[in-house]
Amino acid sequence: MKEEVYRADGLGYSYGGRVALREICFTVRSGESLAVLGANGSGKSTLLKILNGLIFPKTGKVEFMGAPLTEESLSGEFLKCFRERVGFVFPEPDVQLFCPTVYDELAFGPLQLGVPDSEIKKRVDELLEMLGISNLSGRAPYTLSGGEKKKVAIASVLSVDPDVLLLDEPTNGLDPRTQVWFFELLQSLKVINKTFIMCTHDLSLVEDLASRAVVLDESHRVVFDGPALDVLKDKDLLLRANIIHEHTHRHGGITHIHSHGPYSTHDEHD
Ligand SMILES: Nc1ncnc2c1ncn2[C@@H]1O[C@H](COP(=O)(O)OP(=O)(O)O)[C@@H](O)[C@H]1O
Ligand SMILES: [Mg+2]
Repeated sequence: MKEEVYRADGLGYSYGGRVALREICFTVRSGESLAVLGANGSGKSTLLKILNGLIFPKTGKVEFMGAPLTEESLSGEFLKCFRERVGFVFPEPDVQLFCPTVYDELAFGPLQLGVPDSEIKKRVDELLEMLGISNLSGRAPYTLSGGEKKKVAIASVLSVDPDVLLLDEPTNGLDPRTQVWFFELLQSLKVINKTFIMCTHDLSLVEDLASRAVVLDESHRVVFDGPALDVLKDKDLLLRANIIHEHTHRHGGITHIHSHGPYSTHDEHD
């Protein structure tokens, strides 16, 4: 069996009195591609922030490669190893980009981790080339389009060459062509056995890229954990978790029920 990357055990989180996650238990193994699905506010981003060590569980625990992820463990030796192995792509690239140029943005992570200058240059040039953004190298990130910023944000995470990628709503705001670019990129990362965990309500992403899915419902609990394709087939579960929705209306004297998204059926009945 593959190495365990994350283990969450009875994990709970709340912001003040507002509960965001309840009793979350799961494990993620090396090379898995996991989609975390749920309606807005179900706790997806909170979970990802915990897996990235930005915030810490209020109850229960979470482990990375068998070591507890706590404020204390991440203030010591373990931090460097953790930051080398785990990369986080924020939902908004503006939050992530802060360097004067795209080149500096990609060089920042490896520089922090003490990678030698010559190696950094090689790595950054290769990545710019691989992602087709060499032409942006000298640009200031704030002058880029949304899609270009997103590419740079992803590149700045890949420049550290992490084993695990955490992606929060990765396709938000991407035009169709950039989405295809992104799908192909993740496919190529899958082939080289990277582990990724992405939260999304984009079901096409699940179908194409995830091997497994965890579904959070609006009570902030895990209501499904299993093969991604099984979730996509379970319309009732998707409706219950508010990932797709259905509404009833009348036109032409007939009552219709519509659902939206990949199950966009139009049931004719009276
Ligand atoms: N910084 C915050 N302060 C207070 N409440 C928050 C904060 N971030 C998220 N929440 C609340 O926690 C719950 C889960 O939010 P979030 O993890 O962002 O969900 P999702 O990513 O699934 O939309 C929501 O009720 C949200 O309003
Ligand atoms: Mg979110």
